[in-house]
Amino acid sequence: MRKSILLLYLLSIMGCTWAQTPTIFQGADLKLGEKLIAENKCTECHQSKVVGDGSALYRPKGRINAPGVLRGMVEQCNTELNLGFFPEEVTAVAAVLNRDYYRFK
Ligand code: HEC
Repeated sequence: MRKSILLLYLLSIMGCTWAQTPTIFQGADLKLGEKLIAENKCTECHQSKVVGDGSALYRPKGRINAPGVLRGMVEQCNTELNLGFFPEEVTAVAAVLNRDYYRFK
């Protein structure tokens, strides 16, 4: 009996840690993502569109409602703005935005 409670407890802790990062962002290079966001003036441009520091533009409750959609949006910006990101760079940028703003699990 006690053993199974302990096991359940361990499983729930492990479940929580896993649940924090969506599968498509697991192993993403967050340092690289932060660097790319800083270098590509994402925030500067967003700031001119919304009030405040620009982060109000990131709307987790809007049409960006899942990790895959977020990554797709970054891919779209990449194409439109001609940033020339590699696929793993798109993933890294989206993973940072998810960690800081969207928090999809
Ligand atoms: C030249 C201006 C400009 C630049 C540079 C820019 N963006 Fe955007 N971005 C926009 C605008 C405008 C929107 C809002 C589009 C809309 O709502 O249709 C947007 C929307 C977004 C969204 C969706 C927000 C939401 O929740 O609806 C994401 C994510 C995003 N941008 C990521 C980035 C990233 C990452 C970069 C840098 C690599 C970047 N953008 C650079 C103008 C820009």
